Parts: sequence; structure tokens; C-alpha cells
Amino acid sequence: MDTAIRGVMNVWDLISPLEFSLLYRQVRPYTMCSNARLRALYLGVRHVVRQEVPGDLVECGCAKGGSAALMAMTLRRLEAQRTVWLFDTFEGLPAPTTKDPDYEIANLYTGDCVGTLEEVKRLFQQLSMADRVQFVKGLFQDSLPTAPTPQIALLHIDGDWYESVKACLENLYDKVAPGGIIQFDDYGYWKGARNAVDEFFETRGIHAALRRLDYSGRSFTKPLPTAQVDRNQALSPRLPFAG
Ligand SMILES: C[S@@+](CC[C@H](N)C(=O)[O-])C[C@H]1O[C@@H](n2cnc3c(N)ncnc32)[C@H](O)[C@@H]1O
Repeated sequence: MDTAIRGVMNVWDLISPLEFSLLYRQVRPYTMCSNARLRALYLGVRHVVRQEVPGDLVECGCAKGGSAALMAMTLRRLEAQRTVWLFDTFEGLPAPTTKDPDYEIANLYTGDCVGTLEEVKRLFQQLSMADRVQFVKGLFQDSLPTAPTPQIALLHIDGDWYESVKACLENLYDKVAPGGIIQFDDYGYWKGARNAVDEFFETRGIHAALRRLDYSGRSFTKPLPTAQVDRNQALSPRLPFAG
């Protein structure tokens, strides 16, 4: 079913005049993300801007920069002044570890998905968006603990391996604003990525309702603090009692 929907959406977005399709056509050569996951990122950016969720956009794992460029172009369309932060080795995937249950297969990809810093900078220059982006080169495990990232409205985690996803959540989850979105690219594909997400939520006692985007992608909206939810409920108009 996923494959059939993917096929239809791919064709549709190659001919449609709608905004997402126009952006999709521009970034498609620079991304490995599926149509459904790119669409979810596009809608996620629009959501956080329209709902005034405070913060910047962060992507951990940009490779050649396609999904990041989509987020930045969506911001530009909305005339929203937010920065896109990109974290990557810019030297391709590091090796997985034994915490990745499919280690034997995963290890075949070590060094793959390379997008160099120069390549990604060039893409943002070509799209006239160099002023919207901050690059942080290095392993997430080294760069994230001291990263000067401010509050985050949308976090896109696309790092494939257990240790990579774990580092992103441990260092950035608390910076995501309530009502902000976290999108996971690899949850349904790489077992290590899924375990890192599940373990993190379990350790924190967060009952995460993950939305399924396709066979692999998931997204999650960070809940509002309980007090704020109670207040919003108290302020919301009551439905007339019909009984
Ligand atoms: C699948 S690619 C990202 C695809 C990209 N979002 C796109 O639009 O095509 C995964 C990226 O994560 C990066 N990565 C994975 N683990 C990392 C880590 N621990 N530290 C830094 N970069 C990492 C890799 O270098 C690679 O560029």
C-alpha cells in the first residue's frame, strides 16, 4: 500500500502546480527522504510557524541538504525569520555499533550518504538561502552537548543509527518547545533508530503517540506542560449540554 501511494504521490508532485510540489521538485535531486516524509516536514514547518511555536528548525543528518532545503524554502514562503541548524559529519555515516540489531547490514553503509559541507553550502547559495542556515560539523555525540542551538520548534532526526538518534534526543529533546514537532526518519526502517526512540520515551516516562508517515517515518508533537493543558481546557468554550 505504501509503495502504491508513494508511486502516485511521486507522479503527482512532478506535475502539480501546488506549493509543496514546486518545492519538492527543487529538492528531489538532493534528498533520500521519501515524498511522504518530505510532505510531513513541509506541513510541520507550516504548523509551527502558523501556531507560533517558538524556536528554530534543527536537522540532525542532512547529507546533501535536500530535506533541510525544503524546510528553509518553506520558511521563506511563510516569510518566517527562523534559522535552520544543520548537524552532520559532512563525511557520511559513521559506523553503527552493536546497539544496532541489524549491525551486519548497517555496517555496509558506513561512509555512505556523504554530503560535504561545501556541497550543502553551495545548494543553499544556489537557492539564495545562505543567510538562513547554520552548519555544525562533527559527530552528534561531540557537537550536540555544547551546540549553541536556542529553542527548537521543529527537530528532524535523520541519523539512522542507535547512538546517533540517542545523542539527538538526549541533547535536544529538552530544547524543543511544547507544541513543537520531532520527526524521525528511520523509526520503521533501522531497528537501532527505533530502539533509541522507544528507550528514550520510556526512560522519560513520556507516552508518545507517534504519527505514522509511511513505512519508516514517524512524527511526534511535544505535549504542552500539564498546567497549560488544564488552563487551555478551562478557557475553551463548552459544548452545549444536549442530554
Ligand atoms: C540518511 S542521511 C540524511 C538524509 C538527508 N536528510 C536527506 O535529505 O537526504 C544520514 C546523515 O546522518 C549523518 N549522521 C549519522 N549519524 C551521525 C552522527 N552520529 N554524527 C553526525 N552525523 C551523522 C550522516 O553523515 C548522513 O549525512
